[in-house]
Amino acid sequence: MKLRIDGRGAPLHGCLTPPGDKSISHRALILASLAGGRSRITGLLDSADVRATAEACRQLGATVRAEDDSVWVEGTGTAGLKPPSAPLDMGNSGTALRLLAGVLAAQPFASELIGDASLSRRPMRRIVEPLSRMGAHIETAEGGTAPLRITGNPKLKGIEYRPAVASAQIKSCVLLAGLYASGRTCVIEPQLSRDHTERMLPLFGTPVEEPCCVTGGGRLRAADVVVPADISSATFFLVGAAMLEGSDVLLRGVGLTPTRDGILHVLERMGAAVEHRETRRHGTETVADLRVAHAAGLRGIDVPEEWIPSLIDELPAIMALAAVAEGTTRIRGAAELRVKESDRIAVMARGLETLGVTVQEFDDGIDITGGPVTGGTVDGAGDHRCAMSFCMLAQRASGPVTVTGAHHIDTSYPDFVAHVQALGGTVEVLLAEADGHD
Ligand code: S3P
Repeated sequence: MKLRIDGRGAPLHGCLTPPGDKSISHRALILASLAGGRSRITGLLDSADVRATAEACRQLGATVRAEDDSVWVEGTGTAGLKPPSAPLDMGNSGTALRLLAGVLAAQPFASELIGDASLSRRPMRRIVEPLSRMGAHIETAEGGTAPLRITGNPKLKGIEYRPAVASAQIKSCVLLAGLYASGRTCVIEPQLSRDHTERMLPLFGTPVEEPCCVTGGGRLRAADVVVPADISSATFFLVGAAMLEGSDVLLRGVGLTPTRDGILHVLERMGAAVEHRETRRHGTETVADLRVAHAAGLRGIDVPEEWIPSLIDELPAIMALAAVAEGTTRIRGAAELRVKESDRIAVMARGLETLGVTVQEFDDGIDITGGPVTGGTVDGAGDHRCAMSFCMLAQRASGPVTVTGAHHIDTSYPDFVAHVQALGGTVEVLLAEADGHD
């Protein structure tokens, strides 16, 4: 997909509800599939990644159906999953693949998890290792990547696991396997990653004990899940409005779990105030309407390393904002960015340089010195968050910008282009299909 932006600083104006939270949507579908009875999910993200999870849940025996304004899931019960007749294709989604691997490791049948080219490059030893310690049998491709061939062992044993990195995908994978294991399974992280799994399990009748432990052998009961708007998708407009003179945007119903709200702290520190309106409770999550207006005098900051897990997916957008801020923004402790849907440090560095921005790459981060942004052609490299970040920065460029490799925007935000246009931004689809840029 190829997008063209000729914004030249036109402001963003108006209000919209960003799409449902991707992390919560995957978890809602998986837990509802494991529960006995009929669960209702409201606000589920309808995107390629979440559809991959829904399809895998169907292949494993759950019924997933959209009706009225909700998605209804008839679960199989924890013991009722059926062997899939074909490999489960997780497309571009690391969350779908890693979380389902935890469930499948404990089943009395074999299964195979596959993904697209990007997902097939991402590291899987980080989940194979703890699952193997629990007694699972998993074969990877050479290099520790997908496809994962899982033999399935219904006699897993609980472990205490201390992952080297703060990763909600590792944590959730191990906890899901722990639902089936003998005894307790605990995950002790170096820093707290997003905690949606821990928040959602009790809703399905499964307690999570301190610090982060489940006891195997229980049952999940059906639940009602309300999915808030995704703060990671809202971020593009928070950042866009902050950098475009005359902007004023209201984003409705955005999920504000403290493990995800690092972007708001960064915006504040860079000089953009985000006003919270009508903070309220939506099921297990807190949500608010967020209002952000243009901030004159944005300044570069050192992003505190301890904030990284709470804004990991927002870093490409933060890099875009840093490109127009006064001074240098320093990001460190973010080596995980190199193993996301793309190497996000390299992809953002190349694109920013093309638009005339001064950057210096480090193994675990980047320095970005703000200044004028020119037109040019940048490559989103098939990474949804990089492509959308470039689109927002392009609104500020002095000339037209073409963003190639933007087709995977539909993994998290299928309405992105329409939403930019609805707020008065300029973005035009030059080519709707994949354009060979990964
Ligand atoms: C996610 C966890 C994060 C994040 C990803 C979604 C999740 O990945 O980057 O987009 O839903 O658990 P890691 O767990 O690998 O940090």
